[in-house]
Order: sequence, then C-alpha cells, then structure tokens
Amino acid sequence: MDSPQVVPVHVSFIMDGNGRWAKARGKERIFGHFEGVESVRAVLEASVEWGIKYVSFFAFSEENWGRPQEEVLGLMSLMMRSMKNELHSFLSNGIRFRVLGNLDRLSDELRSEIAHMEAATASGDKMTMIIFMSYSGKWDIRQAARRMAEEGGEDIEEYLVTAGVPDPDLLIRTSGEQRISNYMLWQLAYTEFVFTPTLWPDFRKEQYLDALREYASRDRRFGKVK
Ligand code: IPE
Ligand code: IPE
Ligand code: MG
Repeated sequence: MDSPQVVPVHVSFIMDGNGRWAKARGKERIFGHFEGVESVRAVLEASVEWGIKYVSFFAFSEENWGRPQEEVLGLMSLMMRSMKNELHSFLSNGIRFRVLGNLDRLSDELRSEIAHMEAATASGDKMTMIIFMSYSGKWDIRQAARRMAEEGGEDIEEYLVTAGVPDPDLLIRTSGEQRISNYMLWQLAYTEFVFTPTLWPDFRKEQYLDALREYASRDRRFGKVK
C-alpha cells in the first residue's frame, strides 16, 4: 500500500460513531466500542509504519461520564483490558504510552494500571501514543490556569496536560459530526481538520491514508503570507 506524501508530526483522532455502528447491526453499543479498539490498533500500526511521531485519541470525554452507567463501566473495563493486551506490542515497537485527562475520576485500579503502563513504556522513543481519558478542553485550561496561578508561572502551555507535546497538525473526526466536542481547545489553534462520514469501527488504514492525502493538499499559512 502507498505511504503518505506528507507525514504530520502529530495526528489526533476524535473516534466517533461506535454506537451507531453497533446499532446498524442490531447490537448493543458496547460492540461498537469493541470493534473500535481494532481501528485504534490499525491506525497505530500504520502510524508506526509511516513514521508519525505522535498519535492521540479522544477515548472518553468529561461529558461522557453522563452516559448510562452500564456503558461507562463497559468502556472502563475495555480500556483496562486493551491496555494490558497492548503492552507487549508497545514495548516491541518503541511506543511510549500516555493517558491524559482528569484521572482523579477514574477508579484506583485503572489509575494504577495506567501508571504501570506509562512507567513500563517511558523509554519508548519511536512514537508517543496518547489516550485522552476523562478529558475536556475547558477542564484542561481551567486546571492549567489554577496551577499556573498557584506557582506564579507565566506560560499556560507549560501547565496544560499536553505540556511538551507538539500541537496536533491534523485532527480527524469520524462519523460525520463536524464539531470539537470540548476536545483540545487550546492546542487545536492551527490544526487542519478532516471530517469523514466513516464510522470509527470502519476507519482503517485505507481511510487513514485518504485523510493524509487530504492533509497533504492543504496550504498551512499560520496567519502569514506565502
Ligand atoms: C465514540 O463513539 C466513543 C465514545 C465517545 C466513547 P460513540 O459512543 O459516541 O458513538 P455514537 O456517536 O453514539 O455513534
Ligand atoms: C466525542 O464524542 C468524545 C469522544 C470521541 C470521546 P461524543 O459522541 O461524546 O460527542 P458529541 O456528544 O456527539 O458531541
Ligand atoms: Mg458519539
């Protein structure tokens, strides 16, 4: 298969449409989430192959805590299981794994597994994979402003949970929705957006390559004149 002509440094995904994918098959929403994990795996594998340095995924928003308890619990246990399953592949591919968000709201068990995964993969230097969990852009800016005031800091970027991570070059949102849904509000300032009608569980390498082709055709000016 082809490779992208332009390789962005950081590609981020709003993985949307799992519930609709399952519903279209007469299944419970959680089946869409299960299949969505396969898309994460496919995207990750392609990203390693293409030399993309940072790949991030919006997995669970602060607002998603308001979903039915059954779905929330299902997503939390899926997160736990998927992380454990991937440790070996992260280590063999040089992937540093990180989870960013309001982790205080997670169970102790999940939080300690995350800490374990982050520590075990900390020396991964080929690529960084970030999962945004219990995250919202407004929460991030609020917590950054609070800590900056406490410490008398001056640069808010140093206090956002993404400190040290380059801003996304490309944001891909699946399922046809064209909104930010309280994702990285600060960090997306000059990001290119690609919206695709494909539902997340159907988003694989081929669709990823299409999005990267679209990205390659964009003229990024950053407010300057070219
Ligand atoms: C995205 O799929 C996954 C999460 C938000 C956790 P959805 O669960 O939002 O699926 P739709 O949008 O209802 O189809
Ligand atoms: C955005 O999807 C959040 C994640 C993908 C984790 P939602 O399905 O929660 O967003 P809305 O409600 O359609 O805006
Ligand atoms: Mg959705």
